Amino acid sequence: HVGGSLYERIGPNALVALITRFYRHVAVHPDLAPIFPADLTHTAEKQFAFLSGFLGGPPLYHERYGHPRLRARHLPFSITPARARAWLGCMDAALRETPEIAETEARELYAALARVAVHMVNTPGEGA
Ligand code: HEM
Repeated sequence: HVGGSLYERIGPNALVALITRFYRHVAVHPDLAPIFPADLTHTAEKQFAFLSGFLGGPPLYHERYGHPRLRARHLPFSITPARARAWLGCMDAALRETPEIAETEARELYAALARVAVHMVNTPGEGA
């Protein structure tokens, strides 16, 4: 497991476990739950397909749905800086609950996701 893509180092089983735990947090987050579907099964499947390719594994999302156009796909939802922080907070909590992913990989994954999350913000926050 040394070297290789982040996908290879994490492995699909740990990635699925992480995503499952992540959406459990999203589902009960007061600021996130309202913009997500009640049933997150399909959302979780799409997220796995996306992260697989994003982390250097099989490009499942591209194969199934075409180019992700992530920012455009998020435009229907009001994504404030607070919601981006909340999303990353759910991811941080899920990573802590996923010992299958070692610290080095967890940090690398979180940093990569944080860069994407900033890019998804499409609505100004209040005040600041
Ligand atoms: C879909 C919210 C960041 C990847 C969605 C959906 C919402 C959402 C509401 C629609 C769910 C559905 O209809 O099934 C947010 C919020 C974010 C965020 C509030 C905060 C910044 C991210 C990041 C990534 C990502 C950082 C990737 C690294 C995806 C993918 C989908 C998705 C792959 C499925 C797109 C599709 O329908 O094909 N997101 N998201 N999101 N999000 Fe995010």
